[in-house]
Amino acid sequence: MTHAQKDFSHLLGSLEGISDPQLEAHFGLYAGYVKKLNEIEEKLQSADRSQTNYSFGEYSELKRREAVAFNGTYLHELYFENLSGDGGEPGADLKAAIEKSFGSFEKWEEDVKAAAASTPGWVLLTMNKKDGLLHNYILYEHHIGLPVHQVPILALDCWEHAFMIDYGTKKAEYLSAFLKNVDWGVVGERLGR
Ligand SMILES: [Fe+2]
Repeated sequence: MTHAQKDFSHLLGSLEGISDPQLEAHFGLYAGYVKKLNEIEEKLQSADRSQTNYSFGEYSELKRREAVAFNGTYLHELYFENLSGDGGEPGADLKAAIEKSFGSFEKWEEDVKAAAASTPGWVLLTMNKKDGLLHNYILYEHHIGLPVHQVPILALDCWEHAFMIDYGTKKAEYLSAFLKNVDWGVVGERLGR
């Protein structure tokens, strides 16, 4: 299939503490992942499967980068979709799930900040289908480190490109801004409650 870039320009001018130049630069990077995902999938159609090799082979290299471009595309969509100028609070059911899983909303916030400080990549709040609880998991690059049996419900981009224009190396200040702009309605819908 061909993957189509989504338009998130409605976010411009609407977020607190995340500027338009920061968002526009980020939209450009997201567009690059969509382009590369389509390119990789197209090249995989004709790559020579008889020349696969762990050290090097066209097919092997494409397979090694396929999940990078796929997650680079769809993690960014999860991220932009769970940002909103309206912010707000988690709904009652989502809040109850957070409290059951982390002890309290404040403890979840502590954990998400610690998780963000632990990765140069992504933090995902997921519903873990094995224990039925919410977890903060960290990913390196776009595709490394996520356990199986997860439904992502909140995506937090912690790559430096997500905040360098606005905050330089002050990642903690970006996290505070991110938390003010979470669209909890979208997160609740992903959880299905
Ligand atoms: Fe990003």
